[in-house]
Amino acid sequence: MGDMEKVFCGTAFHTPERGVVEMLRDVTIVVDNNGTIQQVLDPNEPGAGAAQERARQSGRFNGLGPTEVLIPGLVDLHIHAPQWPQLGKALDAPLEAWLQKYTFPLESRYEDLEFAQEIYTDLVATLLANGTTTAVYFATIHVEASLLLARICLERGQRAFVGKVAMDDKDQCPDFYRDASCEAGISETRAFIERLRALAPEPDPLVQPIITPRFIPSCSNDLLEGLGRLASQYDCRVQTHCSESDWETAFVQSRFGKTDTQVLADYGLLREGTILAHANFVCDEDLDLIRKNSSAVAHCPLSNVYFANAVFPLRTALDRGVRVGLGTDISGGYSASVLDACRHALIAGRMRNGGVDPTLPMDRRGIPGSTISAAEAFWVATRGGAEALGINAGKFAPGQKFDAVSLDLAAPSSNLRIFPGFDSDADCFEKIALNATRANISAVWVNGSQVCGTAPRTASMF
Ligand code: GUN
Ligand code: FE
Repeated sequence: MGDMEKVFCGTAFHTPERGVVEMLRDVTIVVDNNGTIQQVLDPNEPGAGAAQERARQSGRFNGLGPTEVLIPGLVDLHIHAPQWPQLGKALDAPLEAWLQKYTFPLESRYEDLEFAQEIYTDLVATLLANGTTTAVYFATIHVEASLLLARICLERGQRAFVGKVAMDDKDQCPDFYRDASCEAGISETRAFIERLRALAPEPDPLVQPIITPRFIPSCSNDLLEGLGRLASQYDCRVQTHCSESDWETAFVQSRFGKTDTQVLADYGLLREGTILAHANFVCDEDLDLIRKNSSAVAHCPLSNVYFANAVFPLRTALDRGVRVGLGTDISGGYSASVLDACRHALIAGRMRNGGVDPTLPMDRRGIPGSTISAAEAFWVATRGGAEALGINAGKFAPGQKFDAVSLDLAAPSSNLRIFPGFDSDADCFEKIALNATRANISAVWVNGSQVCGTAPRTASMF
């Protein structure tokens, strides 16, 4: 243990396994200079007191307040950074019309780096304040503005995967917003990967590039093929939209006679850590293909209400062993909060389970066995997202990155209330999973560094 270690003391909640809640009461978490957790010590373990003392002497002690708890940082697997100004509006059209009418015109503006700087700076700060410690971003087709987003994430200390969007199809993408050619889409993606890797070099880069074909309809076959080749040449992650809506799946079926998942696999885009946004219309064979290739789904329950025409079978995907995390899909979803997405996933599961048409008899209305628990929803919001990306985060254990959020459970401006004597520890967790909001978030840490909130508390509260 070096003298640069930090020590965090307090009570933590996490879900180290899907559906399993653990409360770590008054733990001492020792974090090394690389932001990696070295030890998680119970209060009565011999090393705990000594670690606290060393940290206090070097001013590296972080004691939570008496009404605060720690949770793992939230992971947002699907964000359209350029759509930030559009959050909470323009949701009156189906996906294919929404793209042409609102979204492509907005995204085309990011050629202007001043505009990009203003919007991206505000977005990254806001997401950190909401507890999003890992963000997976679609940027735009512009290399410079996409690199600017990556730089802002690095400066602000957000763990991020940033993609320059690739889209070249002349029928599906407007003249004012598409890659100049298929070759340009490929060479600019290559340049983006190389330049971002130079900005945040190995080992352990906080921000990494991710190859981003927008979705199959907006990409030519040659572009998909070229991006698949790049993914393997550069051993680079991939993200895209997959089987999102009726229109989208029908489009891909008529072009290829196959599902999105099969087409992506054919082009070498279904790789370990590939993030597939939505995946509402995947069949069992698709789910198995996603699992076998160690790819993952970004479940975006709020966006699905507007664009998907169906509810993603989360329970089925999890039970089939598919990796799943949550996405806000800013601005297809109107909330920037992964805690909201966690609740929306719960609601979606319950609606799917019970059904929606009251004129149908109960036994024909829903899809029984579709619900998920609060603990499972919390897991997909934290550890599930981290596992989807293959990063060591989302739980408090040695070897994991210290990406964490402190919640003040007594924040007067929040709607979260804990009544001692009435609420058990399990109740307390459930209330966090269902009612914690930004108003409760008192501080945020990524990779052991505080990125948001009040100054570290250097005096013990215990
Ligand atoms: N499919 C292609 N582009 C988009 C997008 O920006 N948002 C959503 N939700 N789906 C898409
Ligand atoms: Fe999306």
